[in-house]
Amino acid sequence: MKPIKLSKSVIGNKEKEMVLRVMSDEYLGMGDYVRQFELKLAEYLKNNVVVVNSGTAALHLALVSIGMTAGDEVLVPSITYVATYQAVTATGAIPISCDVDLNTVHIDLKDAEKKVTKKTKAIIPVHYAGSPMDFESLSSFSKKYKLRVIEDAAHAFGSVYPNLNRVGSVGDIICFSFDGIKNITSGEGGAIVTQDKSVLAFVKDARLLGIQKDTDARYEGKRSWAFQVNHQGFRYHMSNIFAGIGLVQLERFESEFKVKRQVLAIAYTKLLSNIDNVECFDINFEHTVPHIFPIKVLKNRDELKEEFSRNNVEVGIHYFPNHKLSYFSDSDLCLPKSEALYDTLLSLPLHPEISHKDQIFICKIIKKFFD
Ligand SMILES: Cc1ncc(COP(=O)(O)O)c(C=O)c1O
Repeated sequence: MKPIKLSKSVIGNKEKEMVLRVMSDEYLGMGDYVRQFELKLAEYLKNNVVVVNSGTAALHLALVSIGMTAGDEVLVPSITYVATYQAVTATGAIPISCDVDLNTVHIDLKDAEKKVTKKTKAIIPVHYAGSPMDFESLSSFSKKYKLRVIEDAAHAFGSVYPNLNRVGSVGDIICFSFDGIKNITSGEGGAIVTQDKSVLAFVKDARLLGIQKDTDARYEGKRSWAFQVNHQGFRYHMSNIFAGIGLVQLERFESEFKVKRQVLAIAYTKLLSNIDNVECFDINFEHTVPHIFPIKVLKNRDELKEEFSRNNVEVGIHYFPNHKLSYFSDSDLCLPKSEALYDTLLSLPLHPEISHKDQIFICKIIKKFFD
């Protein structure tokens, strides 16, 4: 039997044709396809967009753009992908691990409040599993402590807030990931989204080694020869091949990927509703486009994980608490909710090619395990 995969890239003929088209133009670097991808994303998000070659690069550049530097502190939820943390330490700043809310897995602002110091410059809320963090509480928190907000929206492409503003259309700086398994993929990729004109101008140059206004030259199929550089830059720009894939995926998103992910999540919630020892997160899947489908397994999580593996079903754990990783650890730090939650987390397969039959099979494994 073919394994049921936890996640996968869903790539069709249109993406393949697009890659061939880009190749036949014989320019694979950053050019017109990147410009088109940025324009389409900007139209979709109703905001300014700069694309880069990963979500991690987007977070890193966003942090650099607001002047994050050695010794500064950034509030981060412990339960997130390690990329959020690595982006902070790449600037020399210190990620300050905060506990998470048990119902949403969003950063716990009460715990974050205790951790604010004179060195705190920013907060990175993570829209865990695609579910947007409460925007009003985040805004009043950041205003109260005069913090910049860099939203890690890697999971949340296409999700909307309860007032129906799309994630990325409002807020300070928002970062997306388009890696191979995200809600849309460009192979690898990411985006920085903001209304802040100085951040925008900075990241446009910083993604191209800090070369001033090279973006404009590249979009004209040229490059700058006599140029000026006045700050640190990085080689983070996106290639035409990646942008071409992204353009097709964006076109497919609303009618295909978004609907499929939402339907699957609603079906899982229903199928799991009467199974002992299992809890779903209370997420409104009409507003959220889920990137992953984590559940809480209240006992024997690791044994259930083994049972899935015996049945050829890939499952995951999103994520190991980052404050426990030696590079980021503050040895005495205890974050009780993150640590307790971690022991129960298990992510079930979620991608647009999962069938309802697969879901029934997956849920039967859990039911049988606990019967
Ligand atoms: C929460 C979170 N933040 C950041 C990233 C980084 O994105 P990328 O893999 O595109 O660098 C990811 C990717 O998985 C993620 O899940």
